Amino acid sequence: MAELGAAIVGAGRWAQRAHLPGWLRDPRARVVGVYDLDQDRARALSAMAPGSRAYSSEAELLADPEVQVVDVVTWGPAHFLSAMAGLESRRHVLCEKPVHREWARTRDAGELALSRGLRTKVGFTFRFSPAMMRMRELIAEGYVGRPLVFNGFEQNSQFLDPMTPIRAGEGDPGAGADIQVSSLEGYGAPIIDLALWFVGSELEEVVGQLANLVPERLVPGSQVPVRLPIDDADAFLCRFANGAIGTIQSSYVTVGNYPGLEARLYGTEGALICRLVEEEGVCERLYGARRDQVEFRSLEVPERLYPPGGGLTEPWDTAFYANLISAFVSEIADPDLPAQADFLAAARVQEVINAVELSHRRHGWVQLPLEG
Ligand SMILES: NC(=O)c1ccc[n+]([C@@H]2O[C@H](COP(=O)([O-])OP(=O)(O)OC[C@H]3O[C@@H](n4cnc5c(N)ncnc54)[C@H](O)[C@@H]3O)[C@@H](O)[C@H]2O)c1
Repeated sequence: MAELGAAIVGAGRWAQRAHLPGWLRDPRARVVGVYDLDQDRARALSAMAPGSRAYSSEAELLADPEVQVVDVVTWGPAHFLSAMAGLESRRHVLCEKPVHREWARTRDAGELALSRGLRTKVGFTFRFSPAMMRMRELIAEGYVGRPLVFNGFEQNSQFLDPMTPIRAGEGDPGAGADIQVSSLEGYGAPIIDLALWFVGSELEEVVGQLANLVPERLVPGSQVPVRLPIDDADAFLCRFANGAIGTIQSSYVTVGNYPGLEARLYGTEGALICRLVEEEGVCERLYGARRDQVEFRSLEVPERLYPPGGGLTEPWDTAFYANLISAFVSEIADPDLPAQADFLAAARVQEVINAVELSHRRHGWVQLPLEG
C-alpha cells in the first residue's frame, strides 16, 4: 500500500509524546501536516516530522488531498467537532477520549464512519500495552475459564497536591456546586474499556459514587486554589450480561505512579492480574494463578507484542501508542481485520460513564442500555 497520510490536530504535550512518535515509527504511514489553534505549536510539531507542513486552519488541513487520516489530540470539548469534520470529509479518524461526553453522539459518529467504510480509533492506550494484549490472548485461550469477577483500578496521585493546576477541560470552576465528572471520564475510561474487552460481555447494570476529595485546587489562570467540585475519585459496582460481576475504581488523588492501571480477572479455571505502574524503569507486569496453583506467579510477555525496537523498559507512552497506531494502520489497510477500540467501543465505554454519573445523582442502580 502507498504510505498513509496522517494530519494531526492539536500539537500539545500528548501529540508530542505519544502520537507523533507513533506515526513516525510506522513505515506504512507519514505525517503530512499539523494544525493547532496556537500556530507556534503547530510549527514546532511539524518541524519534528520531516516533509510535513503546518496548516493555518482546520479547513486548510481538510482541503489537503494527501490527508487520509485525521488524528485529533485537542481538548475534550473540542474532540467531537474535529472528529466529525474528519469523517464528513471522508477521512479515517483517530481521536483522543472522550469523543463526546454523551454516549449516543459517540455511537452516531461510529455509525457514520461504518456507513462510509471509514475506520475510527479512540486513544484507549492501555489496550495496546503488550502485557494487557497478552492477558487478552490468555483469556481467549481459556486460561481463566469462564469469567466470574473483574476488579479494575486506574489510580495515580498526579492531582493529590492542590497546588498542581488541573488541566483545561478537567473541570470548570464556574459550573456551579454539583460535582462534575472528571476522573471517571479522563482516567476511568480505559479501565472500563479493558473490563468490557476482558469479560467479553456488555454491562447490564451499575451503581456508583463520585467523590470530591481535594475540594480546592489551582485551575489554569488562577494564582490561589479555588473551590472546584470535580470527581477526583469514584467507584462503582457492576453486573455483566454473562453473569460476571465487577468493581471499578478510578482516581487521580490516590498514591501511585503513572499510568496506574490494574486489571484483575478471576474465572472458573484461573485468574490473571496485569499492573501498569512504572517502577524502576519497568511499566507493566503480568501475573497468573491456576486452580491447582493458587499463588500468583509472573508470566512472560512475548517479544512479538512489543513495537519494533521496543521492549520491557521502553516508556509506556511511546511503546503503547506505537502499538495503537500500528493497529490502526493495519485496520485501514485490511478491511477484514476486526476493529479494535473504535468509536462504537468508545460509545459503550461512554455509556457506562454516563450511567455511573446517573447512578450517583439518583443514588441507585442504573440499567443499561441507556436510552439514546
Ligand atoms: N490516551 C491517553 O493515554 C492520554 C494521555 C494524555 C492526554 N490524553 C488526551 O490528549 C489530549 C491532549 O492532551 P495534552 O496533554 O496534549 O493537552 P495540551 O493542552 O498540551 O495540548 C492540546 C493542544 O490542542 C490545541 N487545541 C485545543 N483546541 C483546539 C482546536 N479546536 N483546534 C486545534 N487545536 C486545538 C491547544 O492549543 C493545545 O496545543 C487531551 O484530550 C487529553 O485528555 C490522552
